[in-house]
Amino acid sequence: MPAFDRLFDDAAFAGFYDLDNGWGDDLEYCAGLARDATSVLDLGCGTGALATSLGPTRRVTGVDPAAAMLDIARARAGAQSIRFIEGDARTIRLGETFDLVVMTGHAFQVFLTEDDQRAALRTIAAHLAPEGRFVFDTRNPAAREWLEWVPEASLRVLDDPRFGKVRAWNDVTHDESTGIVSYETHYLAEAGGEHLSTTSSILFTDKAKIEAMLLECGLRAERFAGDWQGGEWTPDASEIIPIGTLAAATV
Ligand SMILES: C[S@@+](CC[C@H](N)C(=O)[O-])C[C@H]1O[C@@H](n2cnc3c(N)ncnc32)[C@H](O)[C@@H]1O
Repeated sequence: MPAFDRLFDDAAFAGFYDLDNGWGDDLEYCAGLARDATSVLDLGCGTGALATSLGPTRRVTGVDPAAAMLDIARARAGAQSIRFIEGDARTIRLGETFDLVVMTGHAFQVFLTEDDQRAALRTIAAHLAPEGRFVFDTRNPAAREWLEWVPEASLRVLDDPRFGKVRAWNDVTHDESTGIVSYETHYLAEAGGEHLSTTSSILFTDKAKIEAMLLECGLRAERFAGDWQGGEWTPDASEIIPIGTLAAATV
């Protein structure tokens, strides 16, 4: 799997995930895509809010390699009807197909090489029903969102039920040659205690490359949205969100 990332694999950090990231328009958009779906696969499901929101009327499976994230997912209200599996989106093969395969929260960006990105896309293709659809999101490199991930612009105060007020901030480096952004995440409780910090890396990929990789992996985008409200993609959109089917789909 991509290098061990404490942000997800360490319970101390995973405990901040929902508070610091929130869940919003992606949930609503995916709920719309899932309207007629009887089965959903959520790759890189993290703390499981999306997977849980789509049960229990559907067969829902969430896959993530980070046990600390899955512990939170499994403790969520409604999680009893969801199958959460510790696994890697590049290699997992469940031997079944789904009406909808999703990979949200920019989980696609944890794959730092094109080989790993292709492996994850092939996993999507391997689990799509003939008429099934897929969706995932990746930040548009043209929007250069990482410029905001510096201490002065990213400082926020979280109201944490365990520690009270917690100051959180990021810092960042961008490698123009590879497209890899490495960012630090810091958490410091105002009441004192340990200063938690860790560094994560993610890859930014442009739309042309995503389109080419989709085709190589047997997938076809019906459309690209530029945000989770479903707006059409434009070159300066914040997101690249392909929504599509198997390349050979009959729909
Ligand atoms: C930014 S979080 C997104 C989580 C969730 N999908 C959301 O929308 O909040 C990225 C997730 O990708 C997971 N991840 C890392 N490597 C992975 C891999 N090889 N296969 C599947 N998921 C992976 C992390 O453990 C983490 O839960």
